[in-house]
Amino acid sequence: MAKIIMYPGEAKKDAVDWKEVQGQHITAVRRNILVLGSGGREHALAWKLAQSEGAHVFIAPGNAGTAQVGVNVNIKLSDFEAIKEFCLKQEINLVVVGPEQPLVDGIVDFFKGDAGLKAVKIIGPDKRGAELEGSKAFAKDFMAKYGVPTAKCFKVNKDNLNEGFKFLESVKAPYVLKADGLAAGKGVLILNDLQEAKDELGKMLDGKFGAASATVVIEEFLKGIEVSVFVLTDGEHYVLLPEAKDYKRIGDGDQGLNTGGMGAVSPVPFCTPEFLNRVEERIVKPTLKGLKAEGIDYKGFIFLGLMNDGGNPYVIEYNVRMGDPETEAVMTRIEGDFADLLMACANGRLDEVHYAKSAKTAVTVMMVSGGYPEAYKKGMKMSGLENLKDVVAFHAGTAFDAENNVVTAGGRVIAVTAHGDSIEEARSIAYREVEKIHFEGVNYRHDIGLDLMRMQ
Ligand code: AMP
Ligand code: GLY
Repeated sequence: MAKIIMYPGEAKKDAVDWKEVQGQHITAVRRNILVLGSGGREHALAWKLAQSEGAHVFIAPGNAGTAQVGVNVNIKLSDFEAIKEFCLKQEINLVVVGPEQPLVDGIVDFFKGDAGLKAVKIIGPDKRGAELEGSKAFAKDFMAKYGVPTAKCFKVNKDNLNEGFKFLESVKAPYVLKADGLAAGKGVLILNDLQEAKDELGKMLDGKFGAASATVVIEEFLKGIEVSVFVLTDGEHYVLLPEAKDYKRIGDGDQGLNTGGMGAVSPVPFCTPEFLNRVEERIVKPTLKGLKAEGIDYKGFIFLGLMNDGGNPYVIEYNVRMGDPETEAVMTRIEGDFADLLMACANGRLDEVHYAKSAKTAVTVMMVSGGYPEAYKKGMKMSGLENLKDVVAFHAGTAFDAENNVVTAGGRVIAVTAHGDSIEEARSIAYREVEKIHFEGVNYRHDIGLDLMRMQ
C-alpha cells in the first residue's frame, strides 16, 4: 500500500476511509479525477492517473480507449457550465485539461472565479498564462523580455506590411511565417522562395487562417534538431518530465505534409544532462521568473518545443499542455503516483514530492487513417487490438459503433507504445504489435526512432 501524500485542507475531503496502519495514516483514499479531451494524449493521461491510489477517472468526452481506464462523460469542452455541474455532482477533486483551447478560452479563470468550484483543483494556466501558446506575438515578446533564447522575429499586420517585406529581405531562406493565434496546428508556413513568402504573408493577413493570422510573426529559421521538453510547475517549483522526440511529417524520412505527430521516442539520446542543464538554466528558470514577474499564476504543464543547435537550446514555441503523441511515450516512463504529483502541483508543493523516471526507452508509433492529414474516412472497423502483447495501445481517434465495435473516428487513430532497453528493442516490439492491428486504409511511419538509434 502506497503512502498518500496529504496536504492541509485536502486530507479530509479526499480521504473517505482513514485507516491506522502501523501508526501511519495510509489509504484508502478516493480521488475523483476528470480529464478533459478525447485524443491519445488524454488516453495516456487517464491511463496513468487510473493507476494512482484511489483514483476514479472520468474523461470528457473521451474515446473507445479511455472507456477502458475510466468513465467517459459526454460533455463539450466549450461548455464550462456543464463541466462545473459534473464536477460538483461527482465531487471531482482534480481536473486535468488535455488540449489548449479550453485553457486559452479561460477554463482555469472560470474555476478560480466560481465560489462553488474553489475546492476543485485544476491543472493548467489561466487565460493570461495560456497566451504563451494562444498568441505567438505574446510568446515572442515574453521571451525577448526575459532573455529566453529564440529565433529573431518581426510582427506584421496590415499596417506595417512593407516593413514585413523588408524583414523578409533581410533574413536568409527558408522563411518562417506564423499565424499569431491558434490555427489547429496549421498556422506555420516554411517557404524557400522570397516571393512566395511575400505572397503568403499577404494571404495570411487577408485571413488565410481567419482571425488567427490577422497578425503574423515572421521568424528567422533555426537550424538543428527538435526535441519536446515537458515541465510541470506550480509557479514556484518545477520538475522536468521525460523529454521526447516527435515525428511530424506524414512520410518516412520526414517527407510529405505536416501532421499532428506520427510517433515519439523518449528519452532522446542527444538530451544529455549537459543539454538539459542548459534548458533549465537558459529557458525554464527565466520562463518561470517571467511568469512570476508578470503576475501569472501558472500551475500546469509547459511544453517547450526546442531546437538543439550544436548543444544550445532555442525555443521554437511554448505550448501550455502536454504534446501528442509525446504524452503516449512520456506517461509510460513516469514512475510513481501521478495523481500525487499533480495534486502537489496544484497545492504549490512540487518541491515535496518524490518523482522518478523509468530508465527504459519508450517508442510510440501512431497509426493513422488513409489520406490523413488531408481528407480521410471514419467509421472503419478495427481488429487485432485484443491480440496485443507487451505494448500499450493508446486510442487517439476511436469510437464505438451501434454494435459496440471499436471503429476509427479521427485522422490519428491509435498510438502503440513499447518499452525496451534500447530504441532498437522498443522499436522492434512496437512494430511487431502494430502489424497485428488492422483497419481499412491504415497508414503509419516505419522509421520512428531510426535516426536516434544511430546516435545511441
Ligand atoms: P509549430 O506549429 O509552431 O509547432 O511549428 C511547426 C513546425 O515548424 C515546428 O515543429 C518546426 O519544425 C518548424 N518551425 C517553426 N518555427 C521554426 C523556426 N523558427 N525555425 C525552424 N523551424 C521552425
Ligand atoms: N506533438 C506536437 C504537439 O502536440 O503540438
